[in-house]
Amino acid sequence: MCGIFGYIGKNNAKEKLIEGLENLEYRGYDSSGVAIVQNGQIHIVKKAGKVCVLKDELLQSDLDGHCGIAHTRWATHGLPTELNAHPHTDSKNQLCLVHNGIIENYISLKKEFNLTTKTQSDTEVIAELIAKIKEKDNLEKIKKACSFLKGSYALAVIFENEPDAIYLAKKESPLMTTYGEDGIYISSDANAFKKYANNFYILKNNEFAKIKNNDIEFYNKNSKINKKLNNFEKTFSFENKNEFLMQDEIMQTPDALKETALFFENFKNLKNYFDNIDNIYLIGCGTAYHSCLLGKKYLEFLNIPIFSEIASEFRYSNVKPSKKSLCIFVSQSGETADTIACIKKCNCKTLAITNVPNSSITFNCKKTILMKAGWERAVASTKAYCCQLLVFYLIKCLLKNEKPKWKQLVSSCKKYLKKNNIKDISKKVLNFEKIMFIGRQEDYVTAMESSLKLKEISYINCIACPSGELKHGTLALVDENTLVVLISTKSSLHNKNLLSKQEIEARKGCCFVASNIINSEIELPNLNSDLMPIMSILPFQLLACEVCISKGYNPDKPRNLSKSVTVE
Ligand code: G6P
Repeated sequence: MCGIFGYIGKNNAKEKLIEGLENLEYRGYDSSGVAIVQNGQIHIVKKAGKVCVLKDELLQSDLDGHCGIAHTRWATHGLPTELNAHPHTDSKNQLCLVHNGIIENYISLKKEFNLTTKTQSDTEVIAELIAKIKEKDNLEKIKKACSFLKGSYALAVIFENEPDAIYLAKKESPLMTTYGEDGIYISSDANAFKKYANNFYILKNNEFAKIKNNDIEFYNKNSKINKKLNNFEKTFSFENKNEFLMQDEIMQTPDALKETALFFENFKNLKNYFDNIDNIYLIGCGTAYHSCLLGKKYLEFLNIPIFSEIASEFRYSNVKPSKKSLCIFVSQSGETADTIACIKKCNCKTLAITNVPNSSITFNCKKTILMKAGWERAVASTKAYCCQLLVFYLIKCLLKNEKPKWKQLVSSCKKYLKKNNIKDISKKVLNFEKIMFIGRQEDYVTAMESSLKLKEISYINCIACPSGELKHGTLALVDENTLVVLISTKSSLHNKNLLSKQEIEARKGCCFVASNIINSEIELPNLNSDLMPIMSILPFQLLACEVCISKGYNPDKPRNLSKSVTVE
């Protein structure tokens, strides 16, 4: 949530910052801004709206400097206005800074230190606070100010009296830096500077950095420290072929599945990690939570209690996993604040399933299974969801000593993505006011994920309901303006599902069926029942994308949302 980028080097900072912000825009796109040092003076340009608005302004300006910081915002405190956009300054313009995270005690800090602010943002309080600290040395000022902050922060700061340096501070929110080929880069996601570097440093909680004279010095609260470099994980690069990232990412699913399956070979030694456990908790948010629901189905054969939990709920529940629990945390980004908060509650075996190496979740869990879905930047998760399900399937095969049949899955997905009728279906969907997705068992989870996809990017009010539950309430919504999409991939339940279709049609609702069993509006390939949920979501990811684009929206940047939810 929110993206930080910084550059100090021999090239033009303006261009570097624009490129960095474009790469980070998936983290937030309400407003953005830069601070660039020109002839020893800090110049700030901020704009409400997407990064392209700021880019237009910057390209027209003659700002020219070699050191700068930039930010793309997802508003938490205050409207997404130019005033509330970062960088923020103190009232005397002694410094400017960009911030990711939330300062939980900003109101009490204002009172305690008698700080006056002009914006609604919690971030401005950090700028005022640093300016107020008496220490002479800029690093000491930041360290001292941070000791008063409660909450999470990744900070990049430039001081007016030392305009050739950038200072960093980090707690909970991700922050990385590297020596690039033409200067030093800073980012909240290393992918954003990957083009220029071979490896990078990750700041840990309560660490600081001073970047000056082409040198990065790291500090903890007490002293200077040495840090290890991290390598970029080898990952195959995907081409961008379509107008939108989400279209590309859906089309990359077969390759992402294949790479994930091949890479899973590295985690086979985790088999023992499932020994001697009494129960399993599967924890995630949003789409990752849906993976947890299906993960439970994949692991049910173990015949021990398995609980799928929404992280934002579980972190506050009175339930505490026991010492003999195994807690599995699913997160594409590896940075979701609620999911990470749950790890801290567990005093037992912990396993992360994530797409991002060196992410906070991998640092906090004892074991990790890394997926190879490639960089996923469209806000709505697609290929990563399929890979999460695949990992659960591969774990099942590993534990049961069965040979996984993922090659069949890859080729079916490939064929389906090449040839399907979703464009036509999407035109019909646009005629309805209300949309429901229904199904039973695994298909119900697919219905939930399909409904989430459609609502998050096309803003259609849609819901998911287990087919058998319709008549216990939801059927009251069905009328001639309602489209019900019935997902039916389990032959043993197919006749029951057809009863639901009749119930809907008897109330003048329209019912489209998605099935591998009968001729239907959305025909699915026939696959082994374990592989089916990994494939059967594809039509609905495509559908959400098509509907969104035909309504004139951008699927990559749905309103009000962000891909990486690093705040609570
Ligand atoms: C956000 C994204 C969703 C994602 C969820 C969990 O809400 O918009 O697409 O499913 O976060 O993210 P994670 O990175 O933990 O999987």
